[in-house]
Amino acid sequence: VTSLTLTGIGQLVTNASGDPGDLGVIHEAAVAVVDGRIAWVGPEARLPKEHREVELLDCEGRAVLPGFVDAHTHLVFAGDRSEEFARRLRGESYEEILAAGGGIHATVAATRMASTTELADGAVARLGRMLASGTTTAEVKSGYGLTTADELRILEAAEEAGRRSPVDVVPTFLGAHVPDKGVDRAEYVDLVIDEMLPACAPLAQWCDVFCDRGAFTVDDARRILTAAKDHGLGARLHAEQLTHTGAAALAADIGAASADHLDHATEDDAALLRGSGVVAVLLPAASFSMRSPQAPGRMLWDSGVKVAVATDCNPGTSNVESMPFVIAVACLEMGLTPEEAVWAATRGGALALRLEDRGMLVPGALADLVILDAPSYTHLPYRPGSNLVWKVVKGGEVVA
Ligand code: NIG
Ligand code: FE
Repeated sequence: VTSLTLTGIGQLVTNASGDPGDLGVIHEAAVAVVDGRIAWVGPEARLPKEHREVELLDCEGRAVLPGFVDAHTHLVFAGDRSEEFARRLRGESYEEILAAGGGIHATVAATRMASTTELADGAVARLGRMLASGTTTAEVKSGYGLTTADELRILEAAEEAGRRSPVDVVPTFLGAHVPDKGVDRAEYVDLVIDEMLPACAPLAQWCDVFCDRGAFTVDDARRILTAAKDHGLGARLHAEQLTHTGAAALAADIGAASADHLDHATEDDAALLRGSGVVAVLLPAASFSMRSPQAPGRMLWDSGVKVAVATDCNPGTSNVESMPFVIAVACLEMGLTPEEAVWAATRGGALALRLEDRGMLVPGALADLVILDAPSYTHLPYRPGSNLVWKVVKGGEVVA
């Protein structure tokens, strides 16, 4: 039995009630961990004797939160698109660059050139920086291969990265990111369904489709996600990011776990998402990095949709690894409150991935915790850009 007890917690976020935005804060708290799981949570004055006689970590008044659950990343890739980024800052558009064969296609070319080990090395480095920012679980999508062999290599690299990093990796097959260069869209959809899905499904838990102008249609996405279900993969969707296509309605109709981005979502979309339990995964750092208007996070939250926030970490639209930064942008640019943004980055992310054992600090949950070098979670949006993470505990061990 390995045990660790955190004492001296000035402010503890538990998310115990499960109600969105209710952080279940306990002051002057302690958390006891036994064998990687939370064994006891409460005011330190009531800490049972058995949990006092183990290794103690005195948090000296700091704030403690559940580890961040980053429910949307594309972090297996090679190459660098800083030149394209600079061109966009000079006025070119993302869609023009993509249509001209750049953008995602530039990353696909670099990714195909890299060995699987090189891809895994890059992913491990990114996961290490994410862990240092408090992320303890990350969803990771494929999508920069666009051939069966390369999509498979990316999922293998994601699996290897998960083994080499303390961060838990949740793999998603995104073969339907964009049609491969020179391949007709309808033909590419057939390739995804007939060849890629059967080959890739054993290495993934989820299937995602980029449903947008310049990528795939709602009909394509429905076909692909229906086929994915037959291979045991749950559905998620890049929806209403660049344009409004009806992808959010599709997500609701097929019972997807999440609809992501939602920059152009409407009130009708919100009603459908709420009614079907689809989690809205909002990516404020992507809109920020694209200099485009934020998703209507306030409207979605107020409509009763369950909301998560994530980095969208990728080389094109959001080269962001830090969930504290995402929380800051969610508050300052999207209009969420600190309580909503922190909940969305922890419990919301776990719900989006349908993970019932994390995103909250209650007995039985995984002992994944972030200790801030600050007295309150409000410092996350209050001090954007500062590294506020003091220590990270993953599965009961201090890992960063
Ligand atoms: O989530 N929307 C599609 N995929 C990514 C961007 C991919 C890229 O530009 O490399 C996104 O924004
Ligand atoms: Fe994305």
